[in-house]
Amino acid sequence: MAMTHHNAQDGSLELFERSWRTYRAVVDHDLMEHRSLTSTLGAVLGALVRPGAAAADLGCGDLALLAPLLRSLPLGRFEAVDAAAAVLPLAAQNLAAAAPGPVPYPCRWTHQDLLTWAQQPDAGGGFDLISCSYALHHLLDDDKQRVLAALAQRLNTNGVLLIADVFRQGGESLPSYLERYTERVQTGWQVLSADQRLQVVEHLTSSDLPAEGDDFVERARREGWTHRWIWRGSHQAEALLLLWPAGHGDPGAALQELDG
Ligand SMILES: C[S@@+](CC[C@H](N)C(=O)[O-])C[C@H]1O[C@@H](n2cnc3c(N)ncnc32)[C@H](O)[C@@H]1O
Repeated sequence: MAMTHHNAQDGSLELFERSWRTYRAVVDHDLMEHRSLTSTLGAVLGALVRPGAAAADLGCGDLALLAPLLRSLPLGRFEAVDAAAAVLPLAAQNLAAAAPGPVPYPCRWTHQDLLTWAQQPDAGGGFDLISCSYALHHLLDDDKQRVLAALAQRLNTNGVLLIADVFRQGGESLPSYLERYTERVQTGWQVLSADQRLQVVEHLTSSDLPAEGDDFVERARREGWTHRWIWRGSHQAEALLLLWPAGHGDPGAALQELDG
């Protein structure tokens, strides 16, 4: 059943509730460069995560690429959050199957809007790591900022936030961004069927509202975050941002070998 969410468009979850296989094909064919992103995430998490860390992933999807990475980390607990109910059993299966034996830490599978989750009081304790990949761009910029404000309250001291998402370039309007991404799908994603390409284009033109990268980090700064761009894809859209509360220790020191 569809749930209440803060996404700008009501139909934004349809692709994930009903046509998960199309998004799966996008990831399997590496059309959004998840492989390079995941490899960078592996290096970052390996350097930052300490034994017993509490981690949460917002807009987790089926965790297909993150699951092996999560199984390699010495976590104390893990919570996965998604507004599309259909993906949570897939995420649980993928985490279980990613390595031999039972998952060695308690997991919680939460069917909830990520802004609602971010704003709720911290019943089970704070988090050392919160990640969110390719979900925030469904929210209006003011709601993205509300997420940033609320997540600062959910982190433990020295906790970090990792946001992978699509971003507009400086000065790029939303229509220009959507036009160039549509062109990229229509001309470069031939490995998908024509029907799948159409589903993707319909989803992105109706539901995607990526922030301008510089505006997003400025809003993050206003909410008390310090940032570092960690990875950029080759299409001036996908990128990974590391954020930590200003005044906490700079985790960047542990990442010096990574390119900014
Ligand atoms: C493009 S998929 C990304 C999945 C996975 N994180 C990845 O990087 O491959 C976006 C996911 O975010 C979820 N999502 C979208 N809006 C959300 C919201 N407001 N709250 C929670 N989850 C949301 C969708 O249901 C979907 O599973």
